[in-house]
Amino acid sequence: MPGLTDRERTTIARIIRVNHAGETGAIRIYAAQLWRARRPYPDMVPALEKMRRDEIRHCAIFRAAMTERDTRPCRVMRLWSLGGFVIGFATALLGRNMIWICTEAVETTVHKHLIEQLHFLRDRDPALFAAIDAIKDEELEHRDHAIEMQEGRGSLDRMVYAVISVLTGLMIWLSTWGDPSLMARDLRADQA
Ligand SMILES: [Fe+2]
Ligand SMILES: [Fe+2]
Repeated sequence: MPGLTDRERTTIARIIRVNHAGETGAIRIYAAQLWRARRPYPDMVPALEKMRRDEIRHCAIFRAAMTERDTRPCRVMRLWSLGGFVIGFATALLGRNMIWICTEAVETTVHKHLIEQLHFLRDRDPALFAAIDAIKDEELEHRDHAIEMQEGRGSLDRMVYAVISVLTGLMIWLSTWGDPSLMARDLRADQA
């Protein structure tokens, strides 16, 4: 992108990297849930498969954006992959409602980050802005579907929701490790 400072380029690279890692984690969550839920909850399979397909497409978009901007995947990809699998499998073990609680928690946390990124990218990288804006709408569809499918929320559900939200936030923070607060500061300063 012409006319950008080095720092802006670095922030853009970090945005792509953390999103790519996040999509990888999401693919693994849905894959683990599908693996576990296929038998007891066959009615959930089409929705989970659709979400997994969406995440695979999102992941490919960020992978291509990485190549175009000469940047590489995040250093803690394995952690995202493993974390996604554990979260997906554990929630699927806890039952149907917990699968939707998990989707809502992850997508809500991701949504907040995407909104911050969009503010930053609007005038700096219009192509990436458009790509993330479209992806954000699909993540919202995932979240809304998850909310629609839930059958109430007990204390265990609320606890799992909180734990998954914290874990997702922590993974995002870890992926921007190096100078973690820099990217957050740049993104927030832009919204002020
Ligand atoms: Fe996604
Ligand atoms: Fe999603």
